[in-house]
Amino acid sequence: MKVLVVFYSMYGHIYRLAEAIAEGARTVAGTQVEMRRVPETLSQEVLKNMGAVEAQKAFAHIPVCEVDELASADAIIFGTPTRYGNMCGQMKQFIDATVNLWASGALVGKVGSVFTSSATQHGGQESTLLTFHVPLLHLGMIIAGLPYAFQGQMRIDEITGGSPYGASTIAGGQGERMPSENELAGARFQGKHVATIASQLTK
Ligand SMILES: Cc1cc2nc3c(=O)[nH]c(=O)nc-3n(C[C@H](O)[C@H](O)[C@H](O)COP(=O)(O)O)c2cc1C
Repeated sequence: MKVLVVFYSMYGHIYRLAEAIAEGARTVAGTQVEMRRVPETLSQEVLKNMGAVEAQKAFAHIPVCEVDELASADAIIFGTPTRYGNMCGQMKQFIDATVNLWASGALVGKVGSVFTSSATQHGGQESTLLTFHVPLLHLGMIIAGLPYAFQGQMRIDEITGGSPYGASTIAGGQGERMPSENELAGARFQGKHVATIASQLTK
């Protein structure tokens, strides 16, 4: 049973969550986990202006995803930073390239799940997660989120990401905050949750 973690990250927050998602998925016996980046669409000059060049070196070793690879997975967990309350353009462009998979029904019945990051606490994480579920439903995927069985999302003693729709982190206005232990625990839970469902579906 194969779980693919497909992400875009500009400054490393989503990458950190993606590692935790993969870690959680690997705890399910018989699960093969692979990580992929979606192709960059911004020029080096724009990335430099956005201060992303150094940060992106940390995950440059992760292979870039080919759209057709999605068909080989039993579950796909997508990670995207929030951009104006939605997924980022790089991810949208990748999703828009899945049309042949849509036409052939290649992703029908596979598990789909999403995690995100935003600068601010109420900056659109839930809208990013929920609107990302829409194309996954068009592709025929079975949506899995982050159930309240992950009780860390109930915490109010510290600022924390995580909602029933998926794991998340709050990066701060300057990207100065990296995922907390609680947020990483949520990501690990989501990875394990998705892998558990996928292994039951593929029995
Ligand atoms: C064009 C653009 C739009 C953004 N829109 C939002 C937003 O709507 N809400 C928010 O809280 N943060 C927003 N951010 C901040 C990003 O979500 C933040 O940089 C990201 O979560 C960091 O994750 P990463 O390091 O994996 O890229 C935006 C950033 C950019 C560059």
